[in-house]
Amino acid sequence: MIQITDPKSLQNYRNKIQENVGFVPTMGALHEGHISLIKKSITENGKTIVSIFVNPTQFLPGEDLDAYPRKLQADLKICELAGVDCLFMPDIQEMYEKDELSIKAPKIKGYILEGYNRPGHFDGVLQIVLKLLNLTKPTNAYFGKKDAQQLFLIQNMVKHLFLETTIVPCEIVREHDGLALSSRNVYLNEQERQDALLLSKSLKTATKRIIEGERDTETIRKIMLEILSPTAVEYVQIVDREFNYIQEIQINNSIILVAARVGTTRLIDNIWV
Ligand code: PAF
Repeated sequence: MIQITDPKSLQNYRNKIQENVGFVPTMGALHEGHISLIKKSITENGKTIVSIFVNPTQFLPGEDLDAYPRKLQADLKICELAGVDCLFMPDIQEMYEKDELSIKAPKIKGYILEGYNRPGHFDGVLQIVLKLLNLTKPTNAYFGKKDAQQLFLIQNMVKHLFLETTIVPCEIVREHDGLALSSRNVYLNEQERQDALLLSKSLKTATKRIIEGERDTETIRKIMLEILSPTAVEYVQIVDREFNYIQEIQINNSIILVAARVGTTRLIDNIWV
């Protein structure tokens, strides 16, 4: 596995590759969720590039940028064992100028849900993802469905900026008891981990009610909010796959999303129905 830290060398490396390139952008602290993206990329492409970069522009003031888990040695091993061809780990100065141009997420869909609770977060996500896609020019880039709104906005950006990469949505990976994997799960103590399970439990109950025939999104939201009451809920919302709020569940075109704080840890989860 080749390790690269400067963008120019990454471009040189990329430009020599004739085969399809798969790209998995990450902020490190890799877990089984990331590994599933990496494995998919390796299966579907001639070469796989992974990036590890804790992107400061997507953290709001007061968020966990400094505390964000960093596990470089473990991440290196994981990538090597998985069969990654190139690992890109730039410094902040390599990726950003002092007087940097800004990218704005769409005014509506970039500023609802996650974007409402973390205003400007998606500006930073799209800014770094665009830079990384420009550097790696991947045939396919892999993103988890857990960050459903991020995935939607990136697909949107690729479409509207005429980028030539295919964005590949990847399934959420969960612990045996349903907890969606997240680098932030390491913040949870034992009691908080129990409460964190309420997110997936509420989604499971919602799905069950939908299978039983319930279609009214307000009813489903209420059921979920009750289950989630021991947590500090930020939102429970139901949208179609274009992120429009909906009043009736549309089978195969709906996403149920939840964000809640457990202790000081902010967690998100969702299910596609
Ligand atoms: O999902 C993430 O880990 C990050 O938002 C991403 C896509 C790597 C951009 O920093």
